Amino acid sequence: MKEDQKRMPLYEAILEYNEKSPAFFHIPGHRYERGINETWREKVGDEIFKFDLSETPLTDDLHHASGPIKEAEQLAAELWGADYTHFLVNGSTCGNQAMVVTASHGGAKIAIPRNAHKSVLMGLIIGGGKPVYIMPQIEPEWGLHGGITPGQVEEMFRQNPDCKGVLVVSPTYYGITSDLEGIARVCHAHDAILMVDEAHGAHCYFSDKLPKGAIEQGADMAVQSIHKVTGSLTQSSMIHIKSDLVTKNLLEANLTLVQSTSPSYILMTSLDCARQHMALHGAEMIDRAVELSDDARERINRIPGLSCAGKELIGRAGIHNLDTTRLIISADDIGITGFELKKMLFDEYDVEVELPDYRNVVAIVTYANEQEEIDKLVAALEDISRRFAPEGEPLPPGEKLPPQPDYVLSPRAAYFLERERVPWVETRGRIVAEMIAPYPPGIPVIYQGERMSAEVWDYIEAFRQRNGHIHGPSDPTLSTLLVIKE
Ligand SMILES: Cc1ncc(COP(=O)(O)O)c(C=O)c1O
Repeated sequence: MKEDQKRMPLYEAILEYNEKSPAFFHIPGHRYERGINETWREKVGDEIFKFDLSETPLTDDLHHASGPIKEAEQLAAELWGADYTHFLVNGSTCGNQAMVVTASHGGAKIAIPRNAHKSVLMGLIIGGGKPVYIMPQIEPEWGLHGGITPGQVEEMFRQNPDCKGVLVVSPTYYGITSDLEGIARVCHAHDAILMVDEAHGAHCYFSDKLPKGAIEQGADMAVQSIHKVTGSLTQSSMIHIKSDLVTKNLLEANLTLVQSTSPSYILMTSLDCARQHMALHGAEMIDRAVELSDDARERINRIPGLSCAGKELIGRAGIHNLDTTRLIISADDIGITGFELKKMLFDEYDVEVELPDYRNVVAIVTYANEQEEIDKLVAALEDISRRFAPEGEPLPPGEKLPPQPDYVLSPRAAYFLERERVPWVETRGRIVAEMIAPYPPGIPVIYQGERMSAEVWDYIEAFRQRNGHIHGPSDPTLSTLLVIKE
């Protein structure tokens, strides 16, 4: 570790500013802690509010960084192995948007996985890019979306030689990674940019026990939610660039397009401090998370009727590697859906897990978890097993996805054209204005701008009939749907 990594340039600049403590006729109007609601101040303490500053001669400007913000970003670039890095104050959401708008500049084609985060679609709406969808394979035992393979990307380029970039989500929410090295090779052979939505992977760079990071594997750009598992505050993220293919000025202009002109100094300082923490202690922090999660996995797999996925997934459905700090827990053998399991754990056992789907829940383990929390999770699952295993029947398997419907309009065109709300039963043959993703498996079966086919309609209707979970439409009952006025 280089000596400089001990520094926290933005944190230090703010301390210096507070030392000077000038008479304040600038925004924000709360003037350090003085103007903050007393009740909140009493609870939280005064110091944090002194970090809520804005652009001043000592504190730099995110959009034209040349002082402590720039230094802090350079230290982050060095730590994550990038040429340069930008701090983000609107999460990986804005990083994905800027990345997509940059790679699809001028309405170019880019490839995205069918299950990309909605910020990717927003990027296409903002920038007018044309998506080519790549369908991740489904891992049948757990009903998980697998990875994207270099072979799929090669085939995509064969059919779309004009494609300018490929976006891969790696790791996914479930910790599943794709073969990024292989995909980078294919992309670069076609002069295309590899973008990685690495929202869930900033910690992977700090341990040999985890998959390698995207930048280490040849990605041109990677967006990371530092707030997710590496200790910064919610909404603070980073985008790292290591590439000759990315036009720097264009990316910077696009970051300005999607971020506030008043970025939060609390969030940016939290990025600076989290980077220093990871630089100094990352290896031991991540090892601790791996140990805690390995312990949990082993114990959960001994509980009758419950299971927790592990490295046996590698090699299936394009799954290249697995971040084992994600606990994919299933009680489907005893008839409990992931949605029910999450609710039960919270309501009855005071255990909060992250993401539910039809079959599984995902519990995220970090360096900041306590052994007692792992014990509490395991004890709750043991009790659930005692209550439900004797009678429980396995959940029925998910249905096969219908074929991808016809692409008629780009997401941007579909977003801006006039829409109308029509009864669900009248949507066959219409170009839809809303994405629909039934669970399982949570992959959109139709996107904005695609035409509702009979197969997709029947598939969704079957879900609707049995009150299945459907994500996307503004009318959650799906009695109606927004379609393009024709
Ligand atoms: C895969 C993926 N990408 C991007 C995002 C957006 O990240 P953020 O919450 O930092 O805006 C998320 C959020 O959960 C995500 O799961």
